[in-house]
Amino acid sequence: MESIKIAPSILAADFGRLAEQVERAQAAGADLIHIDVMDGRFVPNITMGPLVVEAVARVAKIPLDVHLMIVEPDRFVQRFADSGADSISVHVEACAHLHRVLGQIGAAGCRPGLALNPHTPAMVLAEVLDMVDIVNVMTVNPGFGGQTFIASMTAKIRALRAMIDTAGTDVEIEVDGGVNADTVGSVKDAGATIAIAGTCVFQHEKGIAAGIRELRRAAAK
Ligand code: DX5
Ligand code: ZN
Repeated sequence: MESIKIAPSILAADFGRLAEQVERAQAAGADLIHIDVMDGRFVPNITMGPLVVEAVARVAKIPLDVHLMIVEPDRFVQRFADSGADSISVHVEACAHLHRVLGQIGAAGCRPGLALNPHTPAMVLAEVLDMVDIVNVMTVNPGFGGQTFIASMTAKIRALRAMIDTAGTDVEIEVDGGVNADTVGSVKDAGATIAIAGTCVFQHEKGIAAGIRELRRAAAK
C-alpha cells in the first residue's frame, strides 16, 4: 500500500516564526501545508485569513491545502485562490448551495474539497463526487487544535473509501483532528490518503522533523 501523505497544520505552529516553521516542515518531507481558516461564526474560534496564506505561499514549494471553517465561503473563494491556495475545502454544513461553491473553487483554479463534520454522514459525498478532488473527514469537532481523535470516524472513512473505489475515481481522503502516532495507522488502514496533523508535528518535544518522522514511522507499521 502507498504511504500516507502528511499535511502539517500550521494552527499548532509558532506564529512569530511561521515562515521558518513552514520551511522546516517542508525540509522534513511534509507533502502539503494545511491552513485552518476560522471565522468565529461557523466555529467558536478565529484564526487566520488570506494574508497568512500569502505569507506561507512565499516560502512553501509544496501545495497549500486551505480548510475554510467559515459561513458563506463563496464570498471568499476567489480571495483565497488569489492568495496561493492549491486546494480549498468548504464545509457542507456551511453551504446552502454546495454544488455551486465547489464549481466556483474549480473555476478559480483550485482543487475543490468537501469537509464533513463528525455528525455528517458519508453519503453526502455521493451527490457531488464528480466535483471534488478531496474529502476532509473531521475526526474532531472543528474549531481547535489538540483535541481527541473520535475513533468511530474510521467507519465513515471506510464508507467513503468504498464509495470512491466503486466510482473508480481518485478523490483523496484527508483526515483532520487528533491524528498522531497512535491514531494514524487506523486512518490509513481505513483508506485515508492524507493525514493532517498539527499538535504532534509543530509541538513535538524533539522538533518538527521528529514529529513528521514519528508519524511516518507509525503509519508504515
Ligand atoms: C481543527 C482543524 C485541524 C487542527 C488539527 O478544527 O481543522 O486542522 O489543526 O490539529 P490537531 O492535529 O492538533 O488535532
Ligand atoms: Zn483543518
